Amino acid sequence: VEFEIRLQRVRRDPFTEEAIRAHVDRLADLDDAGRLIAAGPRADGTGGVILARFADRAEAQRFADTEPFATGGWETVEVHEWQPADRANGYLDSSLPTRRDAPARRFVDLPGDERRWPRSPLPGQIVLVTTVDAGGEVNVAPESWVSMAAFDPPTVGFGCSTTHRTHRNVEDSGEFVVNVVPSSLAPRAWAMLGDHGVERVDHAGLTLLDATTVRPPRLAECSAHLECVHERTVEFGHGEVFIFGRITAASIDERALDEDVAVGYGRLDPCFFLHDRLHAGLAPPARTS
Ligand SMILES: Cc1cc2nc3c(=O)[nH]c(=O)nc-3n(C[C@H](O)[C@H](O)[C@H](O)COP(=O)(O)O)c2cc1C
Repeated sequence: VEFEIRLQRVRRDPFTEEAIRAHVDRLADLDDAGRLIAAGPRADGTGGVILARFADRAEAQRFADTEPFATGGWETVEVHEWQPADRANGYLDSSLPTRRDAPARRFVDLPGDERRWPRSPLPGQIVLVTTVDAGGEVNVAPESWVSMAAFDPPTVGFGCSTTHRTHRNVEDSGEFVVNVVPSSLAPRAWAMLGDHGVERVDHAGLTLLDATTVRPPRLAECSAHLECVHERTVEFGHGEVFIFGRITAASIDERALDEDVAVGYGRLDPCFFLHDRLHAGLAPPARTS
């Protein structure tokens, strides 16, 4: 059940470091458990809000009553059951009166050259592809032109340039691993572009885990991994290729297997390339009945 915990500032003296740390730790714990929807202070300093899922009102009340900013006397707390508007519960139904008169969409033509598109109609999921070269040296590269391609055999593909190490390594070694980047790791994916090869692996501070069926490693900071054997490469001219691999093993963060599917996807936390240095996570999942 979703709850809004409303914090109201009643004392102006600054929070202690200890209270801030305890407050943030509790929010991080909620987030790790896939229960935090949003939280943050009001910009005018009058308090803040925590939107989160709890088993029931009693649990939400307990969380509110033990809020360090409240127990320390800086803020008062109020707990309200809250209903997020989404398409599943009909609150965003386009037949609602206020939406009924929404103007029809108008379409503008995009230029023929994709590089000049101001917005991509197909934002790609950000992954890190790990490979090894002929000498066994590990390489990692962010990619976002990535998609499942077939069930049987299970096949995944991604687009890259023939000038990239990733392409050379896949052609030489015949293997790669697609590592799913959670939102929290996206800034590191952008930062990687400043380095190449082993320096990139080192500077990114990634933890390499042995894969079970191929030589390129899995990345411990990623939320899922697809181990692949190179199947074929399709060339498009101008040095662009799409590389397909047969998935020989796959692993996923066990917390993504929460019995609530929506919570599980929140923990997988996939993120998407929108624009240079701009990414987005998953919007709250919505069920269509
Ligand atoms: C978030 C993100 C997504 C990217 N997606 C792709 C992609 O889909 N295809 C591609 O060729 N390059 C992509 N790049 C650029 C490559 O990662 C970059 O050229 C990298 O240096 C290639 O590394 P490599 O030479 O080690 O393979 C992306 C970069 C970032 C930061």
